[in-house]
Amino acid sequence: MKIVYWSGTGNTERMAELISQGIKDSGKDAELINVSDVDESSFLEEDVLILGCPSMGSEVLEETTFEPFIESISTKVSGKKAALFGSYGWGSGEWMEDFKNRMIDSDCEVSIDPLIILNEPDDYEDDCIEYGKKIAAL
Ligand SMILES: Cc1cc2nc3c(=O)[nH]c(=O)nc-3n(C[C@H](O)[C@H](O)[C@H](O)COP(=O)(O)O)c2cc1C
Repeated sequence: MKIVYWSGTGNTERMAELISQGIKDSGKDAELINVSDVDESSFLEEDVLILGCPSMGSEVLEETTFEPFIESISTKVSGKKAALFGSYGWGSGEWMEDFKNRMIDSDCEVSIDPLIILNEPDDYEDDCIEYGKKIAAL
């Protein structure tokens, strides 16, 4: 499974690492890919799109790399499953609600709730690992 993420200060990256641990604990492969390095066509061969981005700007996805990537894949993800995650600092989680609705509008199935964590995931490592296990079972 491929986990594509953006992270400025490492919190979402740490979530991605823990999620990958959960996937591996379930006996599946997991590959971490910074969105700057992603090969779009090979990512789109996946049945489950695992995507992580923190809340940036004002309750939006990171605008330079991650947002254009999501825009680019939006017409090519119909029928796939999506699992979404990210860290935030002070908001209500609105950015992730919008991200989820956007994936649903692109005909993705978002059957497990996105995982959002306030700042560093240090106190929520088990939640991230469990989330990885849920993703592996999709
Ligand atoms: C430029 C900037 C804008 C941000 N905007 C928001 C925001 O609108 N809402 C929010 O909850 N957190 C916001 N944050 C806080 C980040 O989401 C938070 O620090 C998060 O842990 C960063 O994750 P990362 O370490 O993966 O980059 C913002 C942070 C930065 C640097």
